[in-house]
Amino acid sequence: MRIVLVGPPGAGKGTQAAYLAENLSIPHISTGDLFRANISQGTELGKQAKAYMDAGNLVPDEVTIGMAKDRMDQPDAANGFLLDGFPRNVSQAEALDASLNADGVKLDAVLDLEVPEDEVVKRIAGRRICKNDSSHVFHVTYSPAQQEGVCDTCGGELYQRGDDSEETVRRRLEVYHSETEPIIDYYKAQGLVVTISALGKVSDVTQRAMDALKGDR
Ligand code: AP5
Ligand code: ZN
Repeated sequence: MRIVLVGPPGAGKGTQAAYLAENLSIPHISTGDLFRANISQGTELGKQAKAYMDAGNLVPDEVTIGMAKDRMDQPDAANGFLLDGFPRNVSQAEALDASLNADGVKLDAVLDLEVPEDEVVKRIAGRRICKNDSSHVFHVTYSPAQQEGVCDTCGGELYQRGDDSEETVRRRLEVYHSETEPIIDYYKAQGLVVTISALGKVSDVTQRAMDALKGDR
């Protein structure tokens, strides 16, 4: 299956993607995680992305689209993938469509995670991620690590993302409404959107998502 996950910052895309990708045996491709890995490795791409991310703005399409395509061209993504954080504006969605068309394949579904803004703010305020791998995600109240400040998965140190400050979160939400939400209409016109509530227990949301994706097949 080829799936796009969409939803505001802090909706739980990364959290759900980890379970959905495992259940569906497809790779989880997060452009946010790819950028953060490049930043911690000190690559040229990471240097280009950092200032935009710190400000809560989108990294320019010229950088992002090439990086996402390179990842989708890896052998493990040949038969499907779960995209998290990409596409994030209509021109990225058009570039993705063009690339899939060229390969003679198409998306199966766009899973839209709905969460009220006050809940998103609480989720982001308490989020802690792992220094070794930003896909290892915890929450101080909702899903605390067994040992405070230490990643359950790899033992790495947990920290708060630089772009999770109140001011930057406000900017990320604005960018979501103005640039990313329009892709939902873009994909609705293709009949691809399935919307679910992302409120409640993580496992309940995963079940809801799996049911919605099955219904869509
Ligand atoms: P990115 O990393 O994609 O950030 P985001 O979209 O803002 O999403 P988040 O990672 O903040 O949230 P999430 O929905 O994954 O939530 P999570 O599962 O962690 O992007 C960061 C930046 O990179 C962008 O601002 C931009 O600069 C750049 N970028 C990335 N992609 C780009 C692109 N395509 N184009 C241009 N620029 C791009 O959950 C949040 C918290 O809630 C966690 O603590 C979790 O434990 C908790 N939680 C999750 N589910 C539940 C639940 N059901 N109940 C209670 N708590 C929960
Ligand atoms: Zn870890």
